[in-house]
Amino acid sequence: MSALQATDLIGVIGAGAMGSGIVQVALNAGHHVVLHDAAPAALDRGIASIADAYQRLQAKGKIDEATRLDRLARLQRGAHLADLAKAALVIEAIVENIDIKAKVLAEVEALLAPNAIIASNTSSLSVTAIAARLRRPQQVAGLHFFNPAPVLPLVEIVSGKVTAQAVADTLFATALAWGKVPVRCASTPGFIVNRVARPFYGEALRLLTERAADVTAIDAILRGSGGFRMGAFELMDLIGHDVNYAVTRSVYDALYSDARYTPSLQQKELVDAGWLGKKTGSGFYQYGADAVNPAVPFAALEAAPAAIVVEGDLGVAAPLAALAQAAGIAVNFVAGPGLLRIAGHAVALSDGRGATARFAADAEAGVSVLFDLALDYAKATTIAIACADQAPAGALAAVTGFFQALGKQVIVIDDAPGMVVMRTVAMLANEAAEVVQQGIASVQDTDLAMVNGVNYPRGPLAWADTIGPAVLQRVLANLAASYGEERYRSSPLLARRALTGQPFYREQAL
Ligand code: NAI
Repeated sequence: MSALQATDLIGVIGAGAMGSGIVQVALNAGHHVVLHDAAPAALDRGIASIADAYQRLQAKGKIDEATRLDRLARLQRGAHLADLAKAALVIEAIVENIDIKAKVLAEVEALLAPNAIIASNTSSLSVTAIAARLRRPQQVAGLHFFNPAPVLPLVEIVSGKVTAQAVADTLFATALAWGKVPVRCASTPGFIVNRVARPFYGEALRLLTERAADVTAIDAILRGSGGFRMGAFELMDLIGHDVNYAVTRSVYDALYSDARYTPSLQQKELVDAGWLGKKTGSGFYQYGADAVNPAVPFAALEAAPAAIVVEGDLGVAAPLAALAQAAGIAVNFVAGPGLLRIAGHAVALSDGRGATARFAADAEAGVSVLFDLALDYAKATTIAIACADQAPAGALAAVTGFFQALGKQVIVIDDAPGMVVMRTVAMLANEAAEVVQQGIASVQDTDLAMVNGVNYPRGPLAWADTIGPAVLQRVLANLAASYGEERYRSSPLLARRALTGQPFYREQAL
């Protein structure tokens, strides 16, 4: 498996945001690059944006003058498609329309050497369908960069139905040589990232629709407890609701209206209103100098307990015992079903049931307050808790005081099944398991894609291993029972892992 040589010419079609970024990646790796765009003004703008980007890098001291000039000298303005004729690899980054892409690529294919590779940066079209319109479909693959291409490391190498293995191998090795993190996947709707990420937005939108918590609370929980770099709502505002909603719609439509990807009316309302997020000044949040956004509804300070009881194995929440001791709270360990007893109140990690339903199902255990999953209970700054409708007076205050004593901000949410982080992570892991189950990508590549493409703090499958596949499968089964919806059905692979207890990363675990 060998990469293209630095002496190989790279052709890029489309001088917009993506094309201009991809040109920089290839120039940085030492290639000569020809950039073409159908609109001469767009071509000039693209070239100017590349020159600007290098100027900024030089101003910041990241590159010197000689490097900047060398890179720009290797960039050729391709006024005509024919200027790409000698390219070993052509990367297309034009408008997301299969007819236009296929027409331009067929034209360029006729000019290229037979062994040249044609790659599309499409984020939502079928690579198989694009390739099928060309004479040498085996030479065609997806090369899906993320925006901004010079900065974000992930590149999805997408094989269509008839893409030659050697072509995918060359692209993989080339992306690696370009300093990127390549992952392989099959041509399916959303590839890896745009598919596996859907629940991150979808569950937050559902929780909002159900009024489990407001936007600021859900974002604060995803950041402070889930360890995500950004909350779902601020991220959607940044991406733009027109774009994010369109991706959800396209994945939903392409997967034959599978309930897991159902778009949100809340988001459609924003799109209809023209509240597209940061770029229009309004989205879930308001932007600009005079913008006023609600504060995160952190709970008021409550008294810390002097002692708690840990009844049985807390699973992934086990570090809470040591954190309590470190905070000067006496901890008694006794046998039990895996819960905390705080001021006499039974408190448990969410298992996908609402607290009210859980209390009703097992009044003897009497779990009246639930807490949410954290990526790392020691590092979490925020913990969400929810209370059963039957909870005795004082339960919420006692649990709030406990987590506050551990140095956490507490957010009380309504009694929503699966809470925020647990539900989100269960659905992300489930989607990732589906991708693996269906042979779209490997366990490692799926996790790599989510960590490098959308900055998740941990790959969903590695995270599933930490929590335990059986725990997540139970969360999903309880969500499915709570809502009576297909949306929460378990991936067959997750269900199997749950039965045997085998982790997704079996090789490493053995
Ligand atoms: P853009 O709108 O910024 O740029 C597209 C460029 O293609 C324009 O300069 C336009 O003049 C040119 N163009 C249109 N038709 C052409 C033709 N027939 N021949 C030659 N040039 C033509 O678009 P952007 O955002 O750069 O996206 C390009 C592609 O990359 C799309 O397929 C998009 O789905 C994909 N993509 C976009 C990402 C993003 O975040 N913007 C991320 C990953 C992929």
